[in-house]
Amino acid sequence: MASANLNIMIKAARKAGRSLVKDFREVENLQVSVKGAGDFVSRADREAERIIKEELRTARPNYGWIGEETGEEAGEDPTRRWIVDPLDGTTNFLHGLPHWAVSIALEHKGEIVASVVFDAAKDELFTAERGDGAFLNDRRIRVSGRRQMIESIFATGVPFAGRGTLPATLRDLSRLMPLTAGVRRWGAASLDLAYVATGRYEGYWERGIKSWDVAAGILLVKEAGGFVESIRPDQSPVESGSIVAANPQLFDEFAGLVRQRD
Ligand code: IPD
Repeated sequence: MASANLNIMIKAARKAGRSLVKDFREVENLQVSVKGAGDFVSRADREAERIIKEELRTARPNYGWIGEETGEEAGEDPTRRWIVDPLDGTTNFLHGLPHWAVSIALEHKGEIVASVVFDAAKDELFTAERGDGAFLNDRRIRVSGRRQMIESIFATGVPFAGRGTLPATLRDLSRLMPLTAGVRRWGAASLDLAYVATGRYEGYWERGIKSWDVAAGILLVKEAGGFVESIRPDQSPVESGSIVAANPQLFDEFAGLVRQRD
C-alpha cells in the first residue's frame, strides 16, 4: 500500500506527464525551426515543473523544494524536501525521441524515502518507498541476477558539447567496453537507474550529474536489491555529482573499473 506522500507524488507525476505528452506530440511539427523547438521545450519543461510544484506544495506546504528549473527553496520543515526533475531527458524530448521521464524524490533527514520516475510516453510508472520495495506499474521489480561482466549491459551518460567530464568518461568507456556485452547511452539518468532496478541492464555510472537527475532513481535501485554509491566512495551519490549503481553480484568489479585511476 502506497503511503499518502507517495500517492501525492504519483498524482503530481501523472499530471505533469499528461502535459508533457501533449507537448511532445507537438515537437515534431516544430523541428523545422530548431530555435522554435528549443523555446517550446523549455516552456514545456517549466510548465511541468509548475504543475508538480503546485500539486506538492498544496498537499505539503511546509516541505522544502529543489527543482531543476526553479532552484532551491527552504521549507518550514527543514527535515523534508522534494527533489524534482520535471523533464529528465530534455534533449531526447527536443528531438522527438520517446525516452524521457518525470522524476520526483522525497528526502527526509538527508535520506531518500520515496520516489517516482514516470516514463509518460511508454506509460511506465516506477515507484519505491524505503523498506517497501520497488515497483513498475504496481508489479514488484528486482535487479538482474547476472554475474558475468561479459554477459552484462551497462549504461552511462556522455557529456554533451565536450563538457569537463568527457575525458574521464572516454577512459571509462575504453576500459569497460571490451569487458561487457555493451554500453548504452540513452540520455535520461532517472530511467537509467529505473532500468537497473528492473534488471533491464546490470549497471549504470555517470560523472557530472545533478541531484534531481538521480535522487528518485537511487531509491528505486536500492529497493530493488541493487547497490548505489558515489564514484568517490566517501561521498553521497545524491549530492556528489557522480554515481555508480549495479546489481550486488557485479557492483564491486564494475565500481572498481570505474574508480580505477590511470
Ligand atoms: C540529463 C539526462 C542525461 C544525463 C545528463 C543530464 P536533463 O538531464 O539525465 O541522461 O547524461 O547528465 O543532465 O538535462 O535532461 O534533465
